[in-house]
Amino acid sequence: MRKKIVAGNWKMNKNFSEGLTLASEVVNIVNDELNDDVTVIMCSPFIHLAQVAKNAQESDKVFVGAQNMSEHASGAYTGDISAEMIKSVGAEYVILGHSERREYHNETNEQLAKRVDLALEIGLNPIFCCGESLEIRESGKEVSYVCNQLTESLFHLTEDEIQKIVIAYEPIWAIGTGKTASSQQAQDMHKAIRDFLAGQFGQEVADKISILYGGSAKPDNAKELFAQPDVDGGLIGGASLKARDFVEIAKSF
Ligand code: PGA
Repeated sequence: MRKKIVAGNWKMNKNFSEGLTLASEVVNIVNDELNDDVTVIMCSPFIHLAQVAKNAQESDKVFVGAQNMSEHASGAYTGDISAEMIKSVGAEYVILGHSERREYHNETNEQLAKRVDLALEIGLNPIFCCGESLEIRESGKEVSYVCNQLTESLFHLTEDEIQKIVIAYEPIWAIGTGKTASSQQAQDMHKAIRDFLAGQFGQEVADKISILYGGSAKPDNAKELFAQPDVDGGLIGGASLKARDFVEIAKSF
């Protein structure tokens, strides 16, 4: 009923030639081994994006995305990259609001709402990241924290628009730490997110939105995570840098 998605977030890793090698390895293994019902996305650094998008054309299961974009359409914003530029090289997705962007670049929910609008206007599908810190989880306020991120960045959208969003729940305490959320913790939060979306957009719409888990997902824990009814795939950091590991995760449904 909803898309199964495994998206790789390369972050700031791989020089140009290493990135192209990784992309073509992923495309080859996916073409040989992956079922048709899984969508694989590679979110490379901007520099690699145009060429990675060309590689991805060799597979109807592999798509590409950027890791960030400007909230301005164009103009005097030195060093920034626009939604239109990303779209023009053949990318179809863009990660928005990753916790590393929120933390190191002070991205706010309000700014992210603007980026979401711009991405949709240009025809990019946002992979919208949400998730709480360890401190918030320990205080027991993780659900209201995540719901507030969704409210402030996504709840102005129409029913049609929200269905173009992929949500990635990434507890900050599990990112790059080797400490995965348990499959039950992931399921509980994904269910809370879906219920919250249903409250705003209706159950039928909420049931169509893919919610990915991110945070130390690996080949050996993906199966259990993806077996949860509200976990529709993963946003994969470290393990997306090795083609074999990444595709093994995509084969874990
Ligand atoms: P990780 O990163 O898989 O390396 O924990 C996930 C992410 O930050 O998207």
